[in-house]
This record gives sequence, structure tokens and C-alpha cells, in this order.
Amino acid sequence: MNRKEFLEKTTFASAAYLISTLPLFANAAEKKIKVGVIGCGSVSGMYLPHLSKSPFVELVSVCDIVFDRAKQRAKEFNVPYMYSAIEQMLAGAPFELLVNLTDMQEHERLNRLALQAGKHVWSEKPMANTYGGGKELLDYAKSKNLRLWGAPAVVNSPQFAYMSNAIQSGKIGKVSAAHGHYGHLGPTWSAFFYEKGGGSLPDLGVYNIATLTGLLGPAKSVVAMTSIVTKERTVDNKGKIKVETEDNAMIIMDHGNGTLSHIQCGFNYFDPYGHEGKGQDQHTISIWGTHGNMGLVGYDWAPFGVDLATHDHEQPERYAKEPHNYVWQEGASVIAESLVKNIEPRIAAEHALHVLEIIEAARASSQSGKRVELTSKFTWPMVKE
Ligand SMILES: NC(=O)c1ccc[n+]([C@@H]2O[C@H](COP(=O)([O-])OP(=O)(O)OC[C@H]3O[C@@H](n4cnc5c(N)ncnc54)[C@H](O)[C@@H]3O)[C@@H](O)[C@H]2O)c1
Repeated sequence: MNRKEFLEKTTFASAAYLISTLPLFANAAEKKIKVGVIGCGSVSGMYLPHLSKSPFVELVSVCDIVFDRAKQRAKEFNVPYMYSAIEQMLAGAPFELLVNLTDMQEHERLNRLALQAGKHVWSEKPMANTYGGGKELLDYAKSKNLRLWGAPAVVNSPQFAYMSNAIQSGKIGKVSAAHGHYGHLGPTWSAFFYEKGGGSLPDLGVYNIATLTGLLGPAKSVVAMTSIVTKERTVDNKGKIKVETEDNAMIIMDHGNGTLSHIQCGFNYFDPYGHEGKGQDQHTISIWGTHGNMGLVGYDWAPFGVDLATHDHEQPERYAKEPHNYVWQEGASVIAESLVKNIEPRIAAEHALHVLEIIEAARASSQSGKRVELTSKFTWPMVKE
């Protein structure tokens, strides 16, 4: 079957764009996406085990400017090619999807180089340094029939799906308010989290913003305050550094129709659960409506239940508590699978871009003391069942 016949035979009109981005192959079940991973630091230790077990992924290359890290990961995960610069990686062993796990400040530049070289991209958050930069990347990707996605993957959890369905089916009535919070004492290994272009919003707040916009719809405007609580820190790779960007933030989002939500995040939260989040069994996301309320149990990136109380059943009951396969580090594996199977994943680049616009607007609001209007949107509701 040639490409034209294949497209004509496809009944999934909405998947046509995705299909048009892929090379044709005889048997989808046998296809693996060739993956190159750039950035072999902390988070690669979570991504690589997941990617290496995916039946839809062939790990081709790893790259890090600290070449020893690339060598180490290549050895651990049996990856045949290793590089110390993206230019060598892009010119080296062929691959189809770049998984970008580098410093936040490097994402936009490296994502752009990969797209220019004809690669699909999965990027850790944020996908670009600015909303404008991210939009330009997405427009460019589309113009080249390439795909670009950004973390986080929180919308994939069954708890997210349960809450979305509960809201859409009217279980909690008209939604009025919501809250999310996430914080710890901050990463200790790398300076970039605290340097310009880093911050607690793109590192931590990003999860709650993705969850609440995913559940309540795109935000129309925001007001926010941010601050720096700890002016100096000591980190493994640079010693003593000045903290240049917010390590404490609060945002109020207006989702329209009267629905308001609030998120707070920071690198100065005493938190007995640590960076790993082990043992967190409290509500970190709460949603209130005229007929009921819901609390997400655990972090939104590692949830394990939803407590629901309604007018008809005032005693909260726990739902979506069955064991499940969702893990926060699954994003790149999930989109590799979607590329192979020609299906559209729930994660959407437009959603990640909207979250980036909110982060930028929150900082602008904090500086000006004014409410900031937003322009970006994404397809919502995100759960269609
Ligand atoms: N560490 C986590 O648990 C965690 C969890 C979720 C998301 N993230 C996100 O993952 C990203 C990386 O975080 P991390 O904690 O792994 O940081 P890290 O400092 O441990 O690792 C980043 C790696 O990228 C490499 N690097 C930087 N610039 C590069 C370039 N131009 N080319 C090649 N390699 C380059 C660095 O040498 C380093 O090894 C960040 O966006 C962070 O927000 C981290």
C-alpha cells in the first residue's frame, strides 16, 4: 500500500495530521521509534528505565556536555551511541524523537535544533524560555509535519480522568473554586533551578497549573505574586550561588464562567516527603462545586485516589484508588507509543504552551501588580469518555 492509499483507508480523520508526520511501515506492531536522549542528569535516571522497557522505543543515543554522564547512561541502559554535543548527536546515528532532559534554559535552543534537523521532540518543562519562543517552535514543528510535546504528563493519570469526568458529568455541580499546592526545599544538585530562566514556577508550579487548567479549562487571565525567600544557596555543581528567580509563588487563575483557582509552589516548603514525594497521602488538589467537592490524594504527579463528597453522599468516599500503571516519567514513552500507533495522546503541546503563558503572565503580574489577560487555548475537556 502506498502512502496515498494508506491515508485514504484511514478512518481517523483527526489522526490524519499525526499520520502524515510518520514514515510508513508495513506492520505497526513491529515499529519502534528511534529515540535520542539529551541530558543525562538526575531525571534521566527516571526516564531511561521507562523508555528502555517500552516495546515502542529503540534507544539509539545519549548525549551530555558532561560526557562521562552520557557514557555512564549508555553503559547502564545499553545504548549504542553517545555524544557530548547536540550537533554531533544530530549528525550521528539516525533517530526520530529527541527526548530533552537538559537544564531548563537550554530546552528552547536544543528543541529548535532538533526540529530543524527533522526530529520529533519530547521536552521536559518548560518547552521554551518564553511563551513566544514556544509558540514559534510549535508553529515551526507543524510547518515541517513534526511533533513537539512538553512535560508534565499529569493529565495521563486515572485520577485526573476520574476528576475530569466527575466535573463534566456535573457530579459536583457548578465548579466555583479550586486549589493546588506543591513545594519542597529545592533541588541541591544544579544551579539552573535558581538562575534566570529557572524558578519554582516552571519546575514545580507547572504540575498544578497543568492539572487545574486541564480540569477546569484554559485560564482567561491571572493575577500573581512571586518572591525570593532564600537569597543564596549552595548547590553541587557551582557551590554558593545567588538565587535569581522566584522560589515562592502564588497565582489566581480565572477560567471563565465564575470559576477561579489558586496554586502555590515554592522551594522553601518544609516537607517531610522530600523530593521523591514518598508518603504524601494528603490532598494536594481540591475542587469545590455547588453540589460537592473533590480532593486528589497524593501529588498530582503521583496520585493514588480521589475523595469525593456530594450533597447526596456527604461522607467522602475514595475513588480511583485501584493500582495503575501511570507514572510521571512516562511522557516520552507514551508519545512514542502514540507515534507508532497513529493515535493522538491526551497530552497536548497547546496545553503545555498555555501553562507556559500562565507562568510568564504570573511573573508579569507580580512585577506590575496588575491582572494579565491570556491568549492561548487548548482543546478542552481533555478526557473524552
Ligand atoms: N530531577 C527530577 O527529579 C526532575 C523531575 C521532573 C522533571 N525534571 C526536569 O528535568 C530537567 C533536568 O533536570 P535534572 O534534575 O535532571 O537536572 P540535572 O542537572 O541533574 O541534569 C541536566 C543534565 O543536562 C546536561 N546538559 C545541560 N545542557 C546541555 C546541553 N546543551 N547539551 C547536553 N547536555 C546538557 C547537564 O550536563 C546535566 O547532566 C529540568 O527541566 C527539570 O525541571 C527533573
